[in-house]
Amino acid sequence: MGLSLPLPVPTRAVPPSAAALVGSLRGVGYSLETAIADILDNSIAAGAKSIDIQWEWNDGEPVGWILDDGHGMHTDRLVEAMRFGGIGPEAKRTAEDLGRFGLGLKTASLSQCRQLTVVSKASSGLASFTWDLDQLRKSGGGWDLIEGDAGLSGEIRDQLKSRKSGTLVVWRMVDFGRTNDRPSYESFLADLQRVDAHLAMVFHRFLAGDARALEITLNGSRVKAWDPFLENDESVIRNPEQRIEGPGGRVRVRGFVLPHRDRFRNEIEFEKAGGPDGWTAQQGFYVYRHKRLLSAGGWLGLGGSRAWTRDETSRLARIRIDIPNTADHDWRIDVRKAIARPPDAIRKPLQRIAEDVRRKAREVFVHRGQYGSRQKATGVSRIWQVNPEGAKRRYTVRRDHELIQFLKGRMDKTGFEFFEALLDLVERTVPVDRVWLDVTEHGVPDDEVNSSELVTTALSMARMMERAGLTPHEAAARLATMDPFDKVEDIEEKLIRKLQGAKR
Ligand SMILES: Nc1ncnc2c1ncn2[C@@H]1O[C@H](COP(=O)(O)OP(=O)(O)OP(=O)(O)O)[C@@H](O)[C@H]1O
Ligand SMILES: [Mg+2]
Repeated sequence: MGLSLPLPVPTRAVPPSAAALVGSLRGVGYSLETAIADILDNSIAAGAKSIDIQWEWNDGEPVGWILDDGHGMHTDRLVEAMRFGGIGPEAKRTAEDLGRFGLGLKTASLSQCRQLTVVSKASSGLASFTWDLDQLRKSGGGWDLIEGDAGLSGEIRDQLKSRKSGTLVVWRMVDFGRTNDRPSYESFLADLQRVDAHLAMVFHRFLAGDARALEITLNGSRVKAWDPFLENDESVIRNPEQRIEGPGGRVRVRGFVLPHRDRFRNEIEFEKAGGPDGWTAQQGFYVYRHKRLLSAGGWLGLGGSRAWTRDETSRLARIRIDIPNTADHDWRIDVRKAIARPPDAIRKPLQRIAEDVRRKAREVFVHRGQYGSRQKATGVSRIWQVNPEGAKRRYTVRRDHELIQFLKGRMDKTGFEFFEALLDLVERTVPVDRVWLDVTEHGVPDDEVNSSELVTTALSMARMMERAGLTPHEAAARLATMDPFDKVEDIEEKLIRKLQGAKR
């Protein structure tokens, strides 16, 4: 009996057909804006400080190019960059590198166009290569990269002239991944706006924030950061940052509760803060990888037996998560850098943080941000009191409210006892469930101050106070600090005028 050697396993080489594989990769789910963002990742990783994007209608044959001032690539490096899966997902990346799969440049570009040319300038000079889908198809399955820029117009090529180094990515034969459906000029313009909004959001920390400074222009105008957490707004509630040790590295988590609609200067500011997809869609987690936003909003499947949905009532809750690129696998980052899923080991702590932020956000949303700690600061007295969870009754009328105290002094004992019993009945029958349902379905009704009605109500109270011995000025001044009269413009003057007018 001799030693048995392991038999070689018979294999057969089955390389993919280039045209078919690349054709399939077009469908991984990029949109124009996520595709452009993926190209920008490369520019940032190459140390770019300024990136210009040009996007031209070109009589229905759109052409786009992205120019950066990064370190550029020598010829060999550029060839490697054009290789599908050049640097694979297992390679160790520098902390600055926003890439992972060695695919982005190719898959993002070719999801939108049929011809990708990359021109790059480094100390050795210019180099350029082109992938052309139609050429690939004709060449019968091979991976034949075209040398040179396939007749790129001098006007575009010259963009690199004035730069010491940099890279120019050009998309020609743009079809947005669609075969027959041609884009209209209107949809082209709408696309441009979406791209602007998306980049403003995804790179906001680079455009104005705590990341390395970067300037992005789109067709000549500067992309302005959109900050989901309103860093400069002092009415945002900011929870302290928490650190969680998880698989792949430490993540940092911070919860924010955005201000109630009433606290914005106007409707435009409010809409803007909502974000590109609006308030309800943009609630939830914002996952960043090296300060680049991966996913904006949503609850990452957290929420217990039934995952949380994006309810209107929790729309003011936003939570920032910072993950390092060493955690890519554990967070299951996808090729488009648009999806991230938290590893099981940290779902519990994330859920706890989110529960807290959601609860606070609901309070601000439903109570219009006026109840609780802020009440004292504004000095407006309110008739309803919200009691802590677990209290016997959640919503009660303040018995120490000035008007109630006033009434107590003016009524006889049985009369006031009846009034108190009535209050008790009102408190016990607050239709909380119904209100909850209505708010969830229709949102909080717009708080239109009907001033003439309110003035009438205030006036009848002021008259009673007058009869009790207060001067018109005193009565008006007290009512002016009570909810909801404080919302009527010039209520004090209006009341005084009416009270004095009545006397004449
Ligand atoms: N604008 C650029 N400037 C300098 N080098 C670049 C540029 N774009 C791409 N490269 C080089 O080409 C390589 C391949 O880019 P590609 O986007 O295809 O993959 P990746 O960035 O490595 O990973 P991912 O698929 O996650 O984006 C990069 O790793 C980088 O070395
Ligand atoms: Mg990349």
